[in-house]
Amino acid sequence: MIDLHSHILPGCDDGAADAAASLAMARVAVADGTRILACTPHILPGLYHNDAAGIGRRVLALRNVLSDESIDLQLVIGADVHIAPDLLQKLADKVVPTLNGSRYFLLEPPHHVVPPNFVAFVERLIEADYIPVVTHPERLTWVTKNYDLIESVGRLGALMQITAGSLTGQFGTQAKALSDRMLEEGRIDLVASDAHNVSGRSPVLSTAYALVEEKAGAETARNLFVETPARILRNAQIRAVGMDAARGAKREAVSKSRAGKFWRMFQGR
Ligand SMILES: [Fe+2]
Repeated sequence: MIDLHSHILPGCDDGAADAAASLAMARVAVADGTRILACTPHILPGLYHNDAAGIGRRVLALRNVLSDESIDLQLVIGADVHIAPDLLQKLADKVVPTLNGSRYFLLEPPHHVVPPNFVAFVERLIEADYIPVVTHPERLTWVTKNYDLIESVGRLGALMQITAGSLTGQFGTQAKALSDRMLEEGRIDLVASDAHNVSGRSPVLSTAYALVEEKAGAETARNLFVETPARILRNAQIRAVGMDAARGAKREAVSKSRAGKFWRMFQGR
């Protein structure tokens, strides 16, 4: 499996405190069947001031630690990037890293407040050829009442990353209900651990993998835990974005309105 969201880098956010903690997380990930792990510390202005250069240095250092311990886990660079007004500029300046240098990056919306102009913000990123991977929408408290925003940014081409622990019920009933709904509707693009440690928030994916396989089939499980993350790391296209996505959405709207007209005729209205 490939895990594109983890706080394994030591001493730079609320994840691993030191190299020993990082090592313990790497051992759990490998034992669980993960072969590639993205190191994605928080970038949150005012709280976590990580940047591409610092994350790159920490990834190199942790690679050396893993190699000394003969732990077969490939690390790639990334970040868990909170929404900020200057984000596009920082991506362009390469201060904020994308996932493995691709056009994809983890975008973390605020947990308890609807981000203002969220759809327009995502649209600008996509117009500039960046593809946000929205982190854990199922855990954001505002999503249940604003599900249309998730549908809208998804139509624009943003990807949706669900947390493995939400599917298994670890984050409570709302996160479980939302992740189940998104799975049923085919709205999940990938599942990741968002691991912070080896106890409550560990880098275990296999339990959620088995659940997805049972509910949605083997092909979907492979897509969400292996194929789509691999395509992201190769910077390959996953689905239509920008104009292609807009044309697709327009076709969808036209066919819906035609269907509506048909039913109105059928019902004599
Ligand atoms: Fe995270």
